[in-house]
Amino acid sequence: MIKETVSSGTTKASESARLQIGERSYELPILIGSEGERGIDITNLRTESSHIALDPGYGNTGSCLSTITFIDGERGILRYRGIPIEELAEHSNFVEVAYLLIFGRLPSKRESAEMTDEIASCELLHEDMKFHFEGFPATSHPMAILSSMINAAGCFQRELLEPYNPATFRILASRLLSQVRTIAAFTYRKSRGLPIIYPNPIYKYTANFLHMMFSMPHRDWEMHPEVVKALDLILLLHADHEQNCSTATVRMVASSRANLFASVAAGVCALWGPLHGGANQAVLEMLNEIHVAGDNGLGFIKEVKNGKRRLMGFGHRVYKNHDPRAKIIKRQCDELLNVLKKSDPLLDIAKRLEEIALSDSYFIDRKLYPNVDFYSGIIMRAIGIPLEMFTVIFAIGRMPGWIANYKEIASDQCARIARPRQIYIGPKLNHFIPRSERLEQEITDSASCSA
Ligand code: ACO
Repeated sequence: MIKETVSSGTTKASESARLQIGERSYELPILIGSEGERGIDITNLRTESSHIALDPGYGNTGSCLSTITFIDGERGILRYRGIPIEELAEHSNFVEVAYLLIFGRLPSKRESAEMTDEIASCELLHEDMKFHFEGFPATSHPMAILSSMINAAGCFQRELLEPYNPATFRILASRLLSQVRTIAAFTYRKSRGLPIIYPNPIYKYTANFLHMMFSMPHRDWEMHPEVVKALDLILLLHADHEQNCSTATVRMVASSRANLFASVAAGVCALWGPLHGGANQAVLEMLNEIHVAGDNGLGFIKEVKNGKRRLMGFGHRVYKNHDPRAKIIKRQCDELLNVLKKSDPLLDIAKRLEEIALSDSYFIDRKLYPNVDFYSGIIMRAIGIPLEMFTVIFAIGRMPGWIANYKEIASDQCARIARPRQIYIGPKLNHFIPRSERLEQEITDSASCSA
């Protein structure tokens, strides 16, 4: 029963919903979250009525109760454990926010220092993992390598393959947070034929990643504090976003009692798609294409309105007013380019597209605003991070959210395996035809939007 697993802050409404099917009516309880969000509890709907709720894309389906992140898409609100993203962006840093998301509150000074030490102590990969990097062709997409290597880590450290155990979880979480950077940087070095640079504990989390990416054996990369700050902010802003595609994937895999590393590796694959984390790469490709074509933006927008293209970095399933992360990133983008004394024609194009879109009824009517990916790529480009690494940066950032969501479901004794149902629309009972009697036919794609 959902009521028994309800966490503090969730109440049952005094009124309930009534569903009428033919002659029979069903009473469905209404649950209210701590911020007033309301959900109709259909846990027993199929047992009682033999009907299921159909919601392709899950736009109206709550898959869990969660205490981690709150979003109000209509008002453009995002809070981690109750704290507004704007406050965290201004006063906190990525590692502290990781602690907040995973353990439920901001760390004390001692806890912060402990976490920093733990992350530093696990930053090296098993030396033999280096040979696995060798096996990938230089042209591999880093997201494929990232997902494979996170999974491969379990082959080198058997304890990573264990299901959730509160006694070891903390150190495994730190190891994952730490090693994802090392894997990501090694992937980049390998793709460029550059020697691997090991992590150096003198650097903090984000600076150490930049060191592994850009230093040379004979010369450390010049660490510009503004660059470290901008990348740390990008990681922080991506740290969690409730039940998005990749986090829902992590939870789905974790619900089968798969281990932390396997669950997160699946999240990396889900994030890769251009409609999700892959959008930051797609945005830059789009801006570049407009730049090369010498378009002033209007031509591209026309194609978008004709349904030929999508304005990448625009629109969001949840935000229907503005994405608060996009505002913060846009400001950071201007600041960084200023400090580095760089100008970027792609930034000018992005701003022009935003201006055109925000005054065009196509976008206004559909409530399409810039999302987190619209400006983040321009910051990464200014830092010198190559395009194919953009989604990897997103994955490093999203790691705390995946870990927190893994913990929430894996530690819930009442959680059931996630197993949606479907409405079958295929052929009715059919019989086997012997091979000699079968006709030659084309395979046609039966998928359509009509369902
Ligand atoms: N450009 C043009 N039109 C768009 C866009 C866009 N970026 N996004 C949505 N629309 C239109 C759709 O064509 C549709 O129009 P219609 O009603 O005339 O058919 C309407 O707006 C609703 O769009 P949906 O696709 O139903 O919205 P959904 O909630 O399913 O998709 C998504 C959200 C995937 C983010 C979508 O807005 C999109 O593809 N955006 C571009 C990719 C992107 O930036 N993704 C990153 C999202 S943030 C993140 O994952 C970190």
